[in-house]
Amino acid sequence: MLQLAILISGRGSNMVKLAKAIETDQLDARIAIVISNQHCAGLAHAVKLGIETKVIERRNFSTRQAHDAAIQDAITSSSADYVFLAGYMAILGAEFTKAFAGKLINIHPSLLPEFKGLDTHQRAIDAQARQHGATVHLVTAELDEGPIILQAELSILPDDDADRLAARVLQLEHHLYPFVLKCLCEGHLTLAAYQVNWHSPDLVIPSLSADRRLIKTLKWPQH
Ligand code: GRF
Repeated sequence: MLQLAILISGRGSNMVKLAKAIETDQLDARIAIVISNQHCAGLAHAVKLGIETKVIERRNFSTRQAHDAAIQDAITSSSADYVFLAGYMAILGAEFTKAFAGKLINIHPSLLPEFKGLDTHQRAIDAQARQHGATVHLVTAELDEGPIILQAELSILPDDDADRLAARVLQLEHHLYPFVLKCLCEGHLTLAAYQVNWHSPDLVIPSLSADRRLIKTLKWPQH
């Protein structure tokens, strides 16, 4: 059984979707711990789901390295095999990313390498991008740079503003992240230090392919 640590900083909706997918799809996985760097709404959702939580606040540490090290210790004690970042709003240092190389996964609300960083939806609209979406990727020391695991893409509509677009991308995220977990549990996907290996590239996401307005393409990384 895969043991997961999930790092959050905010509302925690992706974390909840991962937990629900484990239950509904009977995935061979368990969320061992949810760690947050601040008190946030997502923690209450985790508690409600019966998941162990821990708040490790940056202000209690004199350096970022010490903060990262405390998070690393908490993850190691939880025996997690993988760390899923789900709206974790702090940069993790190189020592941390190296310690979990190939086991640290993030979801980012854009079609990377487009729109790294924050405020992705407004920036996509401002750039008059036609497509937008979400990316699940391995985390390296460089921000939003690691090898892409899977992307889901949609068209930007003429009347989209940042909030409307964000809401539609979030719906995609809620399918994409659990799907990646499912693939990991079922052996369709294996990860190594900065290497993504898909073993069944003709897989489809049933709940997404049923709604063509929500997702247009599932983008597989090129190898
Ligand atoms: C998501 O848009 C995710 O892609 C980004 O932060 C947001 C987190 O949302 N990294 P939630 O906390 O999971 O609701």
